[in-house]
Amino acid sequence: MVAHFVAAAARRQPTVSSATDITPIYNDRMQTIMASESTSSPSVLMLIAGAKGAIGTTVALCSAQLRQDPESILSGLTTARRFADLGDPAHIAVAGWDKLQTPMEEALRRHGVLPESLWREHAPFLSRIEIRSAPPEAALLSEQVEAIQGDMRHFLARWPSAQPVLVNLLPAAWDIAQLHRLETLDEMLKVSAPLPDLAYVLAAVLSDIPVVNFTPNTVEFPVVCREARGRGVPLAGRDGKTGQTYLKVVLASALKARALYVDGWYSLNILGNADGRNLMDPDRACGKLANKTQLLDEILGYKVGAAYGECSHKVHIDYYPPRGDAKEAWDVIDFKGIFGLPMSLRLNLQGRDSILAAPMIIDLARWAAALKKAGIGGPIPELGFYFKKAVGDHAPLTFQEQLAALDCLEQKIRGERK
Ligand SMILES: NC(=O)c1ccc[n+]([C@@H]2O[C@H](COP(=O)([O-])OP(=O)(O)OC[C@H]3O[C@@H](n4cnc5c(N)ncnc54)[C@H](O)[C@@H]3O)[C@@H](O)[C@H]2O)c1
Repeated sequence: MVAHFVAAAARRQPTVSSATDITPIYNDRMQTIMASESTSSPSVLMLIAGAKGAIGTTVALCSAQLRQDPESILSGLTTARRFADLGDPAHIAVAGWDKLQTPMEEALRRHGVLPESLWREHAPFLSRIEIRSAPPEAALLSEQVEAIQGDMRHFLARWPSAQPVLVNLLPAAWDIAQLHRLETLDEMLKVSAPLPDLAYVLAAVLSDIPVVNFTPNTVEFPVVCREARGRGVPLAGRDGKTGQTYLKVVLASALKARALYVDGWYSLNILGNADGRNLMDPDRACGKLANKTQLLDEILGYKVGAAYGECSHKVHIDYYPPRGDAKEAWDVIDFKGIFGLPMSLRLNLQGRDSILAAPMIIDLARWAAALKKAGIGGPIPELGFYFKKAVGDHAPLTFQEQLAALDCLEQKIRGERK
């Protein structure tokens, strides 16, 4: 009761103030909140692989802000009013792993996603978030899995009643399609880690912890899916649908609904964050580009560009340092009406990558936690609303189908539907 009162009082404090006059009061308040953590348990424990990246640090700041001014974050979630059984949506815990040894504060400053005025007062809280070192890359996959599972046990002991969820936020990786050929878990565990993501995902599945794969990296191999299904561990993924592709699904669905024929679609992105730099490597970009490209034909039900004998859906991503995380995207959409007469549409999105992504991560962690509690495991195609390439069979394609699938999934979680 006292802990609840202190947390509520803390939430009523102003969001942004001059750091010099509030820091001592804030420190006192945070110490009280930290002390109360042992008695009041978070609803969800987000275990983030890549916790010091642009999205990971933004999620960490969200967890701090949720304690101080919950409505400012809850109003940006799609799940704030879902899953009452999970507990207080404003009380989530964050922990995880990163290769970087730099403190959280330094990582936030370097990414430049958020102005320092928005996070400076949370620095004491952020510095206490426990981020462990990534396992050594040279170790066998089985050794990496073991090390990560050890960390997971540690985190679970710290927050025994929270539902843990692994969130994969590692950088886009090389294409490793050849792993599809592996038939058994034993074969997979003998491979010398080709994809760092795999160690985290296997550690989670083998510890009965649900997985959210926000990266474009394929981790949902048949062996992994089988294991997750058998253990009732939900797998959500892949490749978060944050900005341009989200709007592409909406517009393509709207054009399809009006029986307008899409003749071509040109999409260009510029971004200047670490993800953008990483995607300049064609081997790393190919997964993301494939995810961004395939879905248009799937939604429309025909190959865009068939009349020209080649695909006329083009997607380009360019690293452009001045933009940092403030990504810009342009779309030129050529479509036809009756008599084949051409029309055209222009879209210009000036977004913010991690600001769009962070609330989706919290939403997805809440979906995954609710699914686990409801005993629903394996790949979850119904979460296609959030992803460019939904895992599992028969994923919903159009925007309307994706929204309807979320409602059905929620009913399934509540036990109202098979
Ligand atoms: N921001 C978006 O809109 C968006 C949309 C869809 C997908 N994604 C994907 O989300 C992922 C994360 O994006 P980001 O912008 O935060 O990337 P980022 O490059 O800023 O962060 C990645 C983090 O992972 C850490 N890391 C690297 N190897 C590691 C390892 N083996 N173990 C632990 N940590 C390790 C890095 O040090 C870094 O801190 C990327 O794969 C990106 O493609 C982002």
